[in-house]
Amino acid sequence: MEQREQWGSKAGFIIAAISSAVGLGNIWRYPYVVYENGGGAFLIPYFIALLTAAIPILIMEYALGHRSRGSVPRTFQGLSRRFEWIGWWQIFICVVIISYYMAIIGWALSYTYYSIGTQWGNDPESFFFKNFLGMSDSFWNFGGIQWKVLLPVLLAWAALYFVLIKGVKKGIEKSAKILMPILVVFMIIITIRGVTLPGSVEGLNVLLTPKFSALADPKVWIAAYGQVFFSLSIGFGIMMTYSSYLPKKSDLSNSAFIAGLANSGFEFLAALGVFGALGFLAVQQGVGVENVAKAGVGLAFVVFPNIINEFPGLNSLFGVCFFGALLFAGFTSAVSILEPCISAVREKFNLTRKAAVNWVCGITFVLSLLYTTRGGLRYLDTIDRFINSYGIVLAGLAEVIVLAWVLRQLDQIRDHVNGVSIIRIGRWWNFVLAVVTPIILIIMTAFNLVDE
Ligand code: PHE
Repeated sequence: MEQREQWGSKAGFIIAAISSAVGLGNIWRYPYVVYENGGGAFLIPYFIALLTAAIPILIMEYALGHRSRGSVPRTFQGLSRRFEWIGWWQIFICVVIISYYMAIIGWALSYTYYSIGTQWGNDPESFFFKNFLGMSDSFWNFGGIQWKVLLPVLLAWAALYFVLIKGVKKGIEKSAKILMPILVVFMIIITIRGVTLPGSVEGLNVLLTPKFSALADPKVWIAAYGQVFFSLSIGFGIMMTYSSYLPKKSDLSNSAFIAGLANSGFEFLAALGVFGALGFLAVQQGVGVENVAKAGVGLAFVVFPNIINEFPGLNSLFGVCFFGALLFAGFTSAVSILEPCISAVREKFNLTRKAAVNWVCGITFVLSLLYTTRGGLRYLDTIDRFINSYGIVLAGLAEVIVLAWVLRQLDQIRDHVNGVSIIRIGRWWNFVLAVVTPIILIIMTAFNLVDE
């Protein structure tokens, strides 16, 4: 067995953690969630969720990985043999997510290229669904591989493989240190240009005007907790894996606050840029912002090409920044989704890093081919909804209940954190994890079930 890998520096770890958290969701999910859930008033439940759930869990995950210095299944097995399965469950979620995440990264790669000279033409919607994805007519019709999609996905996989095979310090840390600054520059350009476009004020008004009555709606609170969980990549074993590569003497609570707040900063910037641009499009088309406000695939691959078409000059440049931002944000998250799997497989079967990377990338690559078929978008939607509504939340719930109530480990974990960190955490942390978080996660699951 090779020696356990380590980050090159504390900053390297934090940048890698932030690069995982900042993903597609920051750009295409958060702005819409704010808009739909009370606008400016949403920031209240959002920050409460951050402080009462996301950051405390992040601290817990950092501590678990740092203490066990092992993969996620090993971490849970070390707590009690009965609970190794929680680790494997999180690995399973990562395997499912990466396979469709890579398809979207492939699309973003293509669209970065299509931005040059707005190659999607005058009708971006039909370009995306018909020409690019070549959508089949029904769920049960795979329609075969769509070569236009397969090609960029293959390129994205090659890059991902290259980073992972190089290891934690020379691969993951180095790529985050190169890509994150570029991403920041792209985001700043998008935000500045977005808020200075004619009509942007319309979009910003819709985004930010606080609707305080929304605070009485439980759905808004659930959306806030859902957003912070997803956005900080909690419940996937990612943060546990990343912290397992920290040196023995490493600050944990401080790092969790930095990563959590940096991620929020990113989301907020993205929201300003996106809604500024939506306001512009709405004014150009003479419709209300609510007609163009969307999230996810529709926002990125249909609405944004429309915005870029209407752009007053330098439209290719704005397109490259937007799709390049999606590409890099997604890519560094993809790296982080695979690392828990690599670490787990490597330990379980006593493999070298190279062998583990080959196995994990090989299997998830084959799975990802499903999303390069002409039915790909339909499968992606279905699986994404399921994983988001149940997979992640239930994994997080199992994690906190087992630690707080079954194994009663919170005091030991808190001692571990306080033994190495500058910011000491008090007993409030136990209360939040043992009581607040499980209640919220249970309510979230119940709501999702009712929604079905
Ligand atoms: N947190 C990332 C985002 O906001 C997404 C992500 C999900 C990253 C799962 C890793 C794992 O988009």
